[in-house]
Amino acid sequence: MNDTFARLLDAARAARLKAHAPFSMFQVGAALETADCQIITGCNVENTTYGLTVCAERVALLKAISEGHRHFVRIGIVADTEQPTPPCGACRQLLWEFCGNLEVILGNLQAQTARHWLKDLFPHPFDADSIGAAGPGAV
Ligand code: THU
Repeated sequence: MNDTFARLLDAARAARLKAHAPFSMFQVGAALETADCQIITGCNVENTTYGLTVCAERVALLKAISEGHRHFVRIGIVADTEQPTPPCGACRQLLWEFCGNLEVILGNLQAQTARHWLKDLFPHPFDADSIGAAGPGAV
């Protein structure tokens, strides 16, 4: 694993420790890397109504967007699973819309890692092109 990936997964591992997951006890950390090499982290935040839970990836993404970032190159995601866990469908949709073909680096608490392209995890997307709109890149 190269230094860039290790740095990103370390940030996701640290973010995971801040997860608010009293219902599932499943803590997830995410670290989104911007085109200018900044790292914005997120953790999952659960809620008593369950359905309002927000995944770590979307927390990281919405934090980044709200801070003015618009260009992203990769995301690191860490959970305590034997096999590294990929992002859920809702997160794939939003990551695709805001980040395009992101590099997705998965890790766990051991040394296991996996690397994917978002276009492979989320083929045939419904996005701004599908409705002939300009999409998030437009402003
Ligand atoms: N979770 C994430 O944070 N990211 C994912 O991609 C999958 C699921 C969270 C949501 C919930 O708090 C817990 O993991 C169990 O589903």
